[in-house]
Amino acid sequence: MKSSFLVAALCAVVHTVLCAAPTNYTAVAVIDNGAGIKGTVTFYQADANSNTTVHAEITGLAQGDHGFHVHSLGDVTQGCNSTGEHYNPFNVTHGSIDSNPRHVGDLGNVVSPGPSQATVFQATNVYLPVTGQYSIVGRAIVLHAGQDDLGLGNSTLSKANGNSGARIACAVIGYAT
Ligand SMILES: *[C@@H]1O[C@H](CO)[C@@H](O)[C@H](O)[C@H]1NC(C)=O
Ligand SMILES: *[C@@H]1O[C@H](CO)[C@@H](O)[C@H](O)[C@H]1NC(C)=O
Ligand SMILES: *[C@@H]1O[C@H](CO)[C@@H](O)[C@H](O)[C@H]1NC(C)=O
Ligand SMILES: *[C@@H]1O[C@H](CO)[C@@H](O)[C@H](O)[C@H]1NC(C)=O
Ligand SMILES: *[C@@H]1O[C@H](CO)[C@@H](O)[C@H](O)[C@H]1NC(C)=O
Repeated sequence: MKSSFLVAALCAVVHTVLCAAPTNYTAVAVIDNGAGIKGTVTFYQADANSNTTVHAEITGLAQGDHGFHVHSLGDVTQGCNSTGEHYNPFNVTHGSIDSNPRHVGDLGNVVSPGPSQATVFQATNVYLPVTGQYSIVGRAIVLHAGQDDLGLGNSTLSKANGNSGARIACAVIGYAT
């Protein structure tokens, strides 16, 4: 009786320590569209129940806003065209990075100062899992030619994908160290 209590107590402590240990699930995507748009996007999650930090640095983008999303597939057999639609496992309407609802893959826009300068994007506490059932690993990050209207526009595409136009660069998201 007493020893089984001790075992249970020990397990509870070990479990808590394991759960509390920072695991830092990390993923990366390396963009190179073969026509001057290059960059790196990193995603990390401190533990399985945390939200994700996203950091991107991209060069070669025309000045202005460019829609930025995780698409559902990591299939680049037809370039960015075969990466599917925005990753949307809960089948809701399109939004911004911090709206509710939003597609899990909705990251809004990156804002480029011009092609010769680095476009930097940083976001914290985003629901964009790197581990678990809704992980984005094996899917793709996609940059669009135009601005994502964040679901607020008049076009019929607005509520579906933000109407941000052609897919100009993309990369498959993989596990990182
Ligand atoms: C987690 O990984 C990110 C990206 O590699 C890094 O910037 C961050 O410092 C790491 N955090 C910890 C606690 O190791
Ligand atoms: C992707 O689709 C666009 C628009 O329909 C088209 O112009 C482009 O050639 C396609 N790219 C590939 C690699 O299939
Ligand atoms: C997703 O939602 C749309 C609109 O509400 C609905 O028409 C469609 O059947 C849903 N798809 C799935 C797979 O649930
Ligand atoms: C993660 O973000 C979602 C909104 O996208 C929020 O509802 C949730 O509370 C956040 N989780 C944590 C642990 O901050
Ligand atoms: C939507 O259409 C209305 C009426 O035509 C117009 O006033 C408004 O500026 C449009 N909004 C956007 C985001 O284009």
